[in-house]
Amino acid sequence: MTKLNVVILAAGEGKRMRSSLPKVLHTLAGCSLLMHVTNTARQLSPDKICIVIGHGGEMVKQSVLGDDITWVPQQQQLGTGHALMQTLPYLDRNGLTLVLYGDVPLISIQTLLELIAKAKEKHCVLLTAEIENPFGYGRIARDPDTRAIKAIVEQKDANTEQLEIHEINTGIMLIPNDYLHNWLPKIENKNTQHEYYLTDIIALSAKQGIQVESSQTRNLWEVMGINNKSQLAELERIYQKHCADKLLHLGVSLIDPSRIDIRGELVCGSDVEIDIGCIFEGNVKLDDFVQVGAHCILKNVKVASDTTILPYSHIEDAEIGENCKIGPFARIRPGTKLSNKVHIGNFVEVKNSQIALGSKANHLSYIGDSVVGKNVNIGAGTITCNYDGANKHQTIIEDDVFIGSDTQLIAPVRVSKGSTIGAGSTITKETPEGQLTLSRSKQVSVSGWKRPQKPKV
Ligand code: UD1
Ligand code: MG
Repeated sequence: MTKLNVVILAAGEGKRMRSSLPKVLHTLAGCSLLMHVTNTARQLSPDKICIVIGHGGEMVKQSVLGDDITWVPQQQQLGTGHALMQTLPYLDRNGLTLVLYGDVPLISIQTLLELIAKAKEKHCVLLTAEIENPFGYGRIARDPDTRAIKAIVEQKDANTEQLEIHEINTGIMLIPNDYLHNWLPKIENKNTQHEYYLTDIIALSAKQGIQVESSQTRNLWEVMGINNKSQLAELERIYQKHCADKLLHLGVSLIDPSRIDIRGELVCGSDVEIDIGCIFEGNVKLDDFVQVGAHCILKNVKVASDTTILPYSHIEDAEIGENCKIGPFARIRPGTKLSNKVHIGNFVEVKNSQIALGSKANHLSYIGDSVVGKNVNIGAGTITCNYDGANKHQTIIEDDVFIGSDTQLIAPVRVSKGSTIGAGSTITKETPEGQLTLSRSKQVSVSGWKRPQKPKV
């Protein structure tokens, strides 16, 4: 079996980004440009992935998790041909190498599989595209009669006739490794930029009578490269539109498809409705009939069916049950699990807590490190005081408890089944089942007391 090697070129500085961050570490849809390419490469299950690094090399290396990458340093950036040459000692002698660019983030697995499928015995395959404005790209020079690919001519080296060609080199190509071993050392830098162009191997191939196949992309945005912030912003919008179109196609209602941001994976059931300005990060799953109000942020969240999330709610690393009502302005933090029919209202923060069926905290509360039973009503302004300055402690609130407004529950503490807590209490000890507990000083009125007056001038 022929081995497949993938090389990702990522050594360039990206001067036009005008940033101290290496170009490939800028993010698109919440993920670095390089991670997009690396994840796509991984889906091909190649025998080896080499990433060529230079500018900010150490930082780039740290940014990719996993030990499946062969990191190849390129000390000086002398061109794409020179970059690929650094990988030669690592490539499998009888394999094929697929060249990807770290700054072309959205190349799809389908396009790459189609390109790989065109690789016949010992042919090179180029991914090309017909584009309206080919400025800046290498042009594909074909034989006028046979249409065979003869060479790639860079913008800066092209003559007037070649500049008229609209078929461009995307940079992505598949080359048998023994050719690379043979051709790369032969490349010269006699061109306008004094760089060792990888693209020059195409002319070498044609000269030796070795056929160069071409494969096309389905979507032009897949081969768009990022050189500056406006291209990054443009591609982000294109990507988001693509995600929104996919959701609409699956039947999700988006109030305005141009005002949704997906930075990860969003999976929706049927009849899901999403209002404007929402951000979905990591893995988010919304079951049937879930409604998400405007300007919510959901990160790594599962929401069961028929639940409504009202505007401006932030939910992270949490599970929400069926028929819940969350928000507006709710904050649900990591480790939270809400059962069915739970209500979390405005300015309520829930952290690392489980809340059982039908319980409610509708206004201005903090519930942290707590286990809350069924049918509990937590009054406005209730705080679980879970932190003593050094350690976190647990609060347990059993079924059918009613907690009056503005109560502090000093953890560790248990509020037993059926307890009622009088408003304004500070609870430090376990409360008995079914009784009213309150810790509130008696109301006094001081007759004859006068408010202090400001001296008259
Ligand atoms: C390259 C192609 C051009 C193609 C275009 C598509 C060459 C000579 N030209 O041009 O035909 O149309 O891409 O976008 O290949 N890099 C290194 N080391 C280097 C130089 C570059 O790792 O010494 C990396 C960069 O980080 C980048 C990629 O290679 O990820 C492309 O380099 P770039 O200089 O942007 O090539 P282009 O001039 O755009
Ligand atoms: Mg470029």
